[in-house]
This record gives sequence, C-alpha cells and structure tokens, in this order.
Amino acid sequence: MEKKILELVKKNKKYRYLDDSLINDKIRKRIKNEKLLGKREVESIVKEVRGELHSSYGSFQLGKKKREKLLEKKDFLSIMKTNVSTKERLNYYEDVYKKIFSITGKPAKIVDLGCGLNVFSFQFMRLKKLEYYGYDIGGDDVEFINKFIKMNSKISGKAFLWNALSDDVDMLPKCDVVFMFKLLDSLGKDYKFNESLILKVMKKTKFIVASFPTIKLSNRKMKFKERRWLEYMLERVGLKFEKFEIENEIFYVVSKK
Ligand SMILES: C[S@@+](CC[C@H](N)C(=O)[O-])C[C@H]1O[C@@H](n2cnc3c(N)ncnc32)[C@H](O)[C@@H]1O
Repeated sequence: MEKKILELVKKNKKYRYLDDSLINDKIRKRIKNEKLLGKREVESIVKEVRGELHSSYGSFQLGKKKREKLLEKKDFLSIMKTNVSTKERLNYYEDVYKKIFSITGKPAKIVDLGCGLNVFSFQFMRLKKLEYYGYDIGGDDVEFINKFIKMNSKISGKAFLWNALSDDVDMLPKCDVVFMFKLLDSLGKDYKFNESLILKVMKKTKFIVASFPTIKLSNRKMKFKERRWLEYMLERVGLKFEKFEIENEIFYVVSKK
C-alpha cells in the first residue's frame, strides 16, 4: 500500500524528483491500519503528504529546460519564483539581510543548510563578494546552484548534496554565518535532534540564522508564531538570540553569549 501511495504522490510532477525515503516517511506516519485503508483514506493521505511536501521541499521544477533558459537570461527573479520560500520572501529579502547583517556584521563566508534556491537572493545581500557553501537534499537544485555560482564572478564556493538527518556536520567549513532558513520544521524531527544539530553547527560558526514559517499548511496564521522550544533550549545551553518577523516567517539570529 505504501508503494501505491508513493506512486500516487509522485504522479504530480512537482514531487517526482524528491527522494522516495523522505516521502515514505511522511506516508508511514499517516498509515494507522493498512487493512482499513479505503479509497477515500488513500486520497486523503496523498493530499496531506503533498501538502506537507509543498511547504517543506518548496522547489518546483519548471522542467529543466525552462529553468536553464532563465539561468542563461540571468532572470534570477523568475527563478526565485519557482520556489515557495524564495518567492514568498521576494519583497522582504533586502530588509531581511539588512537586519541579519546589522547583527552579524557583513559576512565573507556563509554556509546555507537546506539551502533550496536561497543563493539566488545574493543580489539582495549587497555584498561585494561572498564565499558560499549550500547543502540540500535536493540533487537537482544542487546542480543548478553550482551553475549559478560558476557564472557569478562575485560568488565563490559550491553546493553539495547533504542530508541533515544524517546529523553529520563534520565536513562543514568554518564560516561567519550559517543559515538554516525554514529547515528545522521540514526535518520533522524532535527537539532533541534539533538541539544536537544546532549545537554541532554552532561549533563551525559565530552565528546561526534559523527561520520558521508562521503560517500553517492551510495558509492560516499560526496562533503561536514563536518557537518557544528553541528559546528555552538556547537559554538552557547558554546561547543568546535576537528575533524578528516578516510576513509568514520568523527569524532567530543565534550566537554565543
Ligand atoms: C522550506 S525549504 C527552504 C529552502 C531555503 N532554505 C529557503 O528558505 O529559501 C526547505 C529546504 O530544506 C531541504 N531539506 C528538507 N529536508 C532536508 C534534509 N533532510 N536534509 C537537507 N535538506 C533538506 C529541502 O530540500 C528544501 O530545499
């Protein structure tokens, strides 16, 4: 049954490129009793899983050729519109980076975990040059980002295929700031896992900027936008934070006390 549901989810081409194990995880969580699964339950699981993938994996393939064409034309805004998160932030990017860099200082080297297409927002960072390392589970995005980095004389660095759930951060380079924009919620892991990931990543940098959506899958505003678990945890482990909000997203800039 799991296999059948996976096939149904992947019938929609937006999800065709995603890793099967990630989708299966979400399916398994929803199957309570295989024997009781009727057509309606299956349809509802497919809908729910697609909804979650839509907000977690946000990059929707235009089809390789169209995306490459946009890259050739250097139409980076249109590229950003193909990803839920970068699209939502388009009117805010300039302010987001101003705010972040007012706290962290202008970075020379950024590591971006669960990077999606975020590097295409480089123009809004107002940096003369940047060493950038992006990590994501989406192989197609990684290849695409590397093409962008190669064609941009102001950016050096590289994007890599990486699974945050491996909890392996040893290979991350030391850097000024680590971005984890809308990553932690996507992982669907518990607070303990998130804490361990944050503490390990903190050894590589002076600042982590983690962001979270403030709207639900249904598009309704969340009643509690803050991530209290994160605030309590940071306090407990002796880290400090500043937070700020834009429409649909809350940012935490975390650093050592
Ligand atoms: C909501 S998107 C945010 C993208 C980007 N950080 C941004 O805010 O523009 C979440 C990103 O995390 C990536 N992701 C999800 N699970 C992951 C995992 N286990 N390891 C690495 N990346 C993951 C997805 O592929 C996707 O690009």
